[in-house]
Amino acid sequence: MSLIPLKKMKKINISGSQLAVSDQGSGDVVVFVHGFPFDHRMWQPVISRLSVQGFRCVAPDLRGFGQSDFTEGVVSIERFAEDIAAILESLRIEEPIILCGLSMGGYISLQFAKKFPKRLKTLVLCDTKTAADSPEAAENRRRTADSLPQDGLGPLVEGMIPKVLCEKTLKEKPQLLAALKEQMLSHHPLGVAAAARGMAERRDSSDILAALDCPVWVLCGDQDAISPPAEMQAMAETAKTSRFALIADSGHLAPLENPEQWTSEFLEFYGTL
Ligand code: MLT
Repeated sequence: MSLIPLKKMKKINISGSQLAVSDQGSGDVVVFVHGFPFDHRMWQPVISRLSVQGFRCVAPDLRGFGQSDFTEGVVSIERFAEDIAAILESLRIEEPIILCGLSMGGYISLQFAKKFPKRLKTLVLCDTKTAADSPEAAENRRRTADSLPQDGLGPLVEGMIPKVLCEKTLKEKPQLLAALKEQMLSHHPLGVAAAARGMAERRDSSDILAALDCPVWVLCGDQDAISPPAEMQAMAETAKTSRFALIADSGHLAPLENPEQWTSEFLEFYGTL
């Protein structure tokens, strides 16, 4: 079972790699950047609501995930950000966008904001952080990446599931859990390894956030164990203009665990633009 029946995605050729993109609705452009190791489907409950309310929702499968091609070795956060820019160019999206990234998607969105500040109308940071990995965390990630070709994605996924969903979701939403696992297991291990190595080498981006001139919206699951609410709130306060919302009954994947509240907070923030 999938989180949604997969719609046919557009395929965009970026220097020889085919990247898959979901493009639904019309209106103000919102680009959704997924976390690790997910794909565009983690946004689908939010996209199905916003795409009928005047938004064009663009959600790529990042290089190495979902239906996109993978690149072996290391895919840096900068490279992912350049892929987003190339996707926008290919879709002929020239107006400033609302860029919305969760966790790894947040790292990529911050990097995009640094490289292409004029392309941003608003930055939405979900369940993410500006801090780089500690040396130990980076080393662990590299070890995990090196183990993936041999061990496959199973051990990584089993270890992550209890950290990304809150207890209520784990207990009460078995179908969501099964679909999420299937999604996490569906990628090529070499693509996931390359992204893990890219995250391990990323730099702290708190200076990028502090320098941004566009509004920043920060949304966080109230039980997020990976990017805890207190840390995210403190991060929000470092931006020049920010709004912060806690999403109830949610862990690290708030847009998936509580899409109703997530969407209504998004719409409320949008009303302030
Ligand atoms: C994610 O959800 O993208 C991951 O938790 C990011 C990370 O491992 O730092």
